[in-house]
Amino acid sequence: MAIRNFNEDTLTAAVLKRLDTTPDPRLKAIMRSMVKHLHAFVREVRPTPDEWLAGIQFLADTGHWCDDKRQEFILMSDTLGVSMLVDYLNYGKTKDATESTVLGPFYVEGAPELPMGADTAKPGTPGEPCVAQGKIRDLNGRPIADATIDIWEGAGDGLYDVQKPDGMNLRARFRTGADGKYRFTCIRPVSYPVPTDGPVGKMLTATGRHPMRPGHLHFMIQAPGYEKLVTHLFVRGDPYMDSDAVFGVKDSLICDFKKNGSGRYEVSFDFMLVPEGQLTRPAKQARPARTVKRRK
Ligand code: BEZ
Ligand code: FE
Repeated sequence: MAIRNFNEDTLTAAVLKRLDTTPDPRLKAIMRSMVKHLHAFVREVRPTPDEWLAGIQFLADTGHWCDDKRQEFILMSDTLGVSMLVDYLNYGKTKDATESTVLGPFYVEGAPELPMGADTAKPGTPGEPCVAQGKIRDLNGRPIADATIDIWEGAGDGLYDVQKPDGMNLRARFRTGADGKYRFTCIRPVSYPVPTDGPVGKMLTATGRHPMRPGHLHFMIQAPGYEKLVTHLFVRGDPYMDSDAVFGVKDSLICDFKKNGSGRYEVSFDFMLVPEGQLTRPAKQARPARTVKRRK
């Protein structure tokens, strides 16, 4: 193959050929696909040099906004629906198992381990107190012991602790006993905007999109012998349920957060975990066969 004078039709094949030396077959497949799609994108969009530079600048700005508290690339992946697509392809829908949803950028490792029943809100936290309770179960309904449950959420003002200077709040880790039960006090979740002060916010504005997420409580549940579950409980009736900025809502995760007899909000939900190695991933969809028209 000629190695000079490339044009729109020959350049892609030449770049792909150059990847032939990639020793790792998975990396090779990923790089080939990335080059093919990127070149197809450029051929379709036909960006001017200034537009291409603006795109590169957008990615560079996104990187500059990232640190240990802010992950603008995750936010970009979330708001473009890519996080939910990756989640869907990997977690799928397994029998009666609780469905997963987006992790988001506000998970922090090392939340304090609290006893069951604890209040995860520091005194003075804005919002209405709410008790969350239920069980961690296997697919036969049996309780799972020794499950760790990480929970995190924003306060009633719509802000997560990492968006304020006062240290950890509304995040905790609980461990189940033999009965698989969990119970803690949190804040009734409210809808809130994803961070809009960075490049992703500009992208949302430029495309006429709102940044809101329906109110939700985050869970990450891990137990020996089971697949990790990353999910939310959404507050039924939230006005943004059908337009979540990150496409994370699933009907099965929408819950009633109701006032109990003593006027306190409560939500009850049992989580069903999938045994390790038994996730049902969606099969690649077969494309409809192309009908080739014969020339007469
Ligand atoms: C969140 O729910 O915390 C979240 C998820 C995706 C993007 C921004 C925030
Ligand atoms: Fe959230």
